[in-house]
Amino acid sequence: MTHPSLAIIRREHRALSAMLRSISLLLAGHRRRNTLPDFDALQAMLFYADEFPEKLHHPKESRLLFPKLRGRNAQTDAVLDRLDADHARGEHAIRELEHALLGFRMMSGTDQGEARRDKFENLMKRYADFYLEHMRIEEAEILPLAEAVLCDDDWAQLDAAFLTNRDPLAGYGADEAYRPLFRKIVGELQKSGSVGSALEAFSGTSLSMGDRETQ
Ligand SMILES: [Fe+2]
Ligand SMILES: [Fe+2]
Repeated sequence: MTHPSLAIIRREHRALSAMLRSISLLLAGHRRRNTLPDFDALQAMLFYADEFPEKLHHPKESRLLFPKLRGRNAQTDAVLDRLDADHARGEHAIRELEHALLGFRMMSGTDQGEARRDKFENLMKRYADFYLEHMRIEEAEILPLAEAVLCDDDWAQLDAAFLTNRDPLAGYGADEAYRPLFRKIVGELQKSGSVGSALEAFSGTSLSMGDRETQ
């Protein structure tokens, strides 16, 4: 049986992976065509990454799951140390990205425009590679370990905690207040035409197709 908390972690990983890959595809398309991206949509995507993965997903892992797995052996503890350090870096990394995006937006059309585009794309790639590898390690090493060693009481605590504050873009109900944000993000992904995997990952969101089409 798959524990609800593990299913939530995997779904949230799929949503974040799809978003990160989509941003890279969007940026590559604009670079190829020598056009400017929709800055509002990119800002919405970074806001999402900050609001859900950074503030909800990673803290749930660091505060609730990882402590239950520590102290078994030095090798596992070293992996958990690295993952905790990644979580701690994320907040700074997203601020840096937001600033680089602002620089790209404000300086586009000037002789700094292309350098600012390069800087944002490079930072974005570094952030995406960093989190894709982070999630790969969690799925390859940490989640299977949790499945093997945690007891029923552990799972009851984790499931109760993970069932609250879930990521709406991973297919769980969104507060009304977030619906315009997700409409903007999904609309931009649809326009790009090369993000099928992202739309598939987001297909379970609380946004109905009708909502998507009317934005
Ligand atoms: Fe994590
Ligand atoms: Fe994770």
